[in-house]
Amino acid sequence: MHNSDLMDKIVSLCKRRGFIFQSSEIYGGLANAWDYGPFGAELKRNLKNCWWKSNVSERDDMVGLDAAILMHPNTWKASGHAENFTDLLVDDKKTKKRFRVDHLSPEEQAKIGTQYTEPREFNLMLKTRLGAVEDTSSDVFLRPETAQGIFVNFKNILDSTSRRLPFGIAQIGKSFRNEITAGNFVFRMREFEQMEIEYFTTAEDSDACYEEWINRRFNWYTEHGIRKENLKLRKHDDDELAHYAKGCTDVEYQFPFGWSELEGIANRTDYDLKQHAELSGKDLRYHNKITNERFYPYVIEPSGGVDRAALAFLVDAYHEEEVDGRSRVVLKLHKDLAPTKVAVLPLLKKNADIVSMAQSIKTDLQKSLTCVYDDSAAIGKLYRRQDEVGTFFCVTVDVESLDDKQVTVRDRDTMGQQRVPVENLKRYIQDQLS
Ligand code: GAP
Repeated sequence: MHNSDLMDKIVSLCKRRGFIFQSSEIYGGLANAWDYGPFGAELKRNLKNCWWKSNVSERDDMVGLDAAILMHPNTWKASGHAENFTDLLVDDKKTKKRFRVDHLSPEEQAKIGTQYTEPREFNLMLKTRLGAVEDTSSDVFLRPETAQGIFVNFKNILDSTSRRLPFGIAQIGKSFRNEITAGNFVFRMREFEQMEIEYFTTAEDSDACYEEWINRRFNWYTEHGIRKENLKLRKHDDDELAHYAKGCTDVEYQFPFGWSELEGIANRTDYDLKQHAELSGKDLRYHNKITNERFYPYVIEPSGGVDRAALAFLVDAYHEEEVDGRSRVVLKLHKDLAPTKVAVLPLLKKNADIVSMAQSIKTDLQKSLTCVYDDSAAIGKLYRRQDEVGTFFCVTVDVESLDDKQVTVRDRDTMGQQRVPVENLKRYIQDQLS
């Protein structure tokens, strides 16, 4: 399939089946802002839960944080965002369209000064005002990354949890950037979600720790269903690195619009903690109580985007297949990511006993699994509908079920069907999903 066709199909499926809608569509929409519909909200929630489980719940060396989006303006002075978080932009003199210089081809860059204006720096942070009275209100920024919430809470976490190095702090939350060239659906937005880890270690151990996190984060995507051939690591050249970073490697995904960054893993050295210590006047050094040394730890930062990951999982899961001469679209999402685990489908919606049995099965299953109930079409159509949104199992209740107390369980990927006693159904499904 041609790549632009695939992207169009994903965008269309997302709208049609309630994964992702354009924001404020009834007013004509807001450019590059997107809302997650019923299936999208479940997918995103599952994705964040999987990330949290792997990176926080299942580890002894990690804790979580949920910091505020609005932070003291000095945060951004210390982090360097106030001064350096800029893009170089040019305007096309004729069309008045604005472009990032680094997004122009070499041929286009040669036209700077003629077709395009001279480059200007543009800060990407979104500003707002706090306080009701215009004169006394103060300018604050919507955070452009969640990372700084972690650094400013480093001492709070040390004091409240008695952690010893190495350890990490994880956070998932919204970030905002006034991107000039937003686009490619949810790939680049002005409001998006990040999943970030700041992992604190010693300078000596930081190189090994950096390599470990690169592998761990690459493997997380493959373990959750992304095909290995669609992922690669890209080490940043020295001239791409932020001045404080010792190394940075991106996990890239082969999106329909080309290989692009899904997540970055950086060795940020001891830069951030030192900066915040200097501007706040607080001692943010780590105290090794055994050696009585005090020092600023180095930081390894795996930083990924929830929306980019959701898009990559959707693209990778999208399959078109030929079944009995008819095409089926199926989202082969990983079991932990699939928005709905089970659809309960009564074969005859006019048969009150079948409906009652199907409803009671759904009521029972939905206590522990995401379920839907659908009786609004013929069974073939119902199966296709569930395939398209990645529902893992379809449970069909038919006339025989009333006698033998068994139902048909259909597997999304193999389309294989099995009769399962109702009393074993929950256990059967849970076993398959575990
Ligand atoms: N704290 C480091 C940091 O923020 P980044 O490379 O600017 O690094 C990390 O962002 C991740 O956040 C990216 O790999 C991407 O997944 C996501 N991200 C960044 N800007 C985004 C945007 N405008 N829209 C959607 N996701 C974005």
